[in-house]
Amino acid sequence: MGNTIEEVKKRRTFAIISHPDAGKTTLTEKFLLYGGAINLAGSVKGRKAAKHAVSDWMEIEKERGISVTSSVLQFNYDGFCINILDTPGHQDFSEDTYRTLMAADSAVMVIDGSKGVEAQTIKLFKVCVMRGIPIFTFVNKMDREARDPFELVDEIENVLGIRTCPINWPIGSGKNFKGVYDRNTETISRFIASDNGHKIESVEAKLGDSNLDDLITKEFHDQLVDDIELLDGASDEFDLEKVRAGKLSPIFFGSALTNFGVETFLQHFLEMTTSPLARKSGDVEVDPFSEDFSAFVFKIQANMNKAHRDRIAFMRICSGKFNAGMEAFHVQGNKKIRLSQPQQMMAQERKHVEEAYAGDIIGIFDPGIFSIGDTLCTASNKVKYAGIPTFAPEHFARVRQVDTMKRKQFMKGIEQIALEGAIQIFQEFNTGMEEIIVGVVGILQFEVLQYRLQNEYNVEIRMEQLPYEHVRWIENEDIDVSALSVTSDTKKVKDFKGNPLLLFTHPWSIQTALERNEGLILGEVSDN
Ligand code: G4P
Repeated sequence: MGNTIEEVKKRRTFAIISHPDAGKTTLTEKFLLYGGAINLAGSVKGRKAAKHAVSDWMEIEKERGISVTSSVLQFNYDGFCINILDTPGHQDFSEDTYRTLMAADSAVMVIDGSKGVEAQTIKLFKVCVMRGIPIFTFVNKMDREARDPFELVDEIENVLGIRTCPINWPIGSGKNFKGVYDRNTETISRFIASDNGHKIESVEAKLGDSNLDDLITKEFHDQLVDDIELLDGASDEFDLEKVRAGKLSPIFFGSALTNFGVETFLQHFLEMTTSPLARKSGDVEVDPFSEDFSAFVFKIQANMNKAHRDRIAFMRICSGKFNAGMEAFHVQGNKKIRLSQPQQMMAQERKHVEEAYAGDIIGIFDPGIFSIGDTLCTASNKVKYAGIPTFAPEHFARVRQVDTMKRKQFMKGIEQIALEGAIQIFQEFNTGMEEIIVGVVGILQFEVLQYRLQNEYNVEIRMEQLPYEHVRWIENEDIDVSALSVTSDTKKVKDFKGNPLLLFTHPWSIQTALERNEGLILGEVSDN
């Protein structure tokens, strides 16, 4: 491989977000096809099999057809080395999405042209905005009856609250889908449907040219002229600075399934995005092109594949070059460690990696020392990236193992899953480890917990949902928690590090606790 600067320059690292079924998997597959990373026969069967192989790791994902974990894929295209981070589509996993976005430099938002902005799009989009990264919109499924494109653009702007700039514009949709008009190059990419598939053809055409009447029919030509005039007058001007600041989203129309508009999207996207950006360590910006390696852990996952019963810490390299087996300083652990068994993920395969660069994501075998948000760096490059905030859980359940003989496996499994950040665990304040209360951000995580304990640890559990919805950590150092006066529907618990906290059913009980206990300090997140 070449030198670090050249390699880092080639890197583009982005996440894909969408409401389930909008076409994220299909679009990802098409990207991979361009990179020659996968070779699909194109048959439905092949596609389905590949679909699971590409991004769905866990059994539960296959069964439910949802993406629970986020996966990372790398491929080369046109001189670029592209890292795609797939994110779970379901809002219940928005915390995982947030962590994944921490590792990305930009995001691609896929929207179904017949449905527009959907519930999960809103949730996931908000998470993107929290990160302030550039967002590119791909309006998919134009080969199906789609909604009026102006209406779609309006919806994206009004519901999501971001300015947009359509880069291309659709000509019809569904049975009458004629293609898209590129506003910049003033060319039309024609979509020619036939009984046994479709053809794609590029035509250089000035609006108003009479041959366009023949190519896309007079009716669509007239409509396109009107649309573009309206768009030129009403839509925001393209402004790369605003795109990079996450203030303006370029919009592309296309159809992932028929592979229409995907390559042009990819090309524009690569032009508009930057190589890995500098990240902050305290007040200092760490140069991604520096020779010194640094990275942070954004995800931890155990038992990802039944064939490999181990724990992997995923890290995003932020600067320099990584070499297999190199020594790095683990900042939070305050010691040097050897980064062994580095891996990159490609479908279900794990590939051993010898070298990786800023922008890349690698998985490192974790003997149980890493936590989410940890920094690694070479000793000459002491950096500490900001931690990744945890979302406060909003749903709680009391969890017990059915077979009391399996207490050990139960605790091992539940603690492991908590370490991954998928759930938070609490215990009754005064009793020992007997009662476990689990808190999650999204209700589906309970199902995942139950499934994983059964499948990976062979432990059957019983869950009883509890009515709490709010959690507050007690920040006072010396306080007698048992003496605190709280409403009868408030529960005193401690987290698994021993920090005391209160679970509330109503926001007003939080107020009551503060009023009844002078000097009590409550925090929404735990700092240690
Ligand atoms: P997701 O990852 O966002 O959940 O969506 P996915 O790509 O799995 O796509 C959801 C469904 O939409 C799939 O159909 C897929 O074939 C279809 N689809 C994706 N892009 C397009 C498109 O551009 N045009 C049309 N017409 N359909 C599209 P499915 O029947 O649920 O699955 P499958 O049988 O095709 O695997």
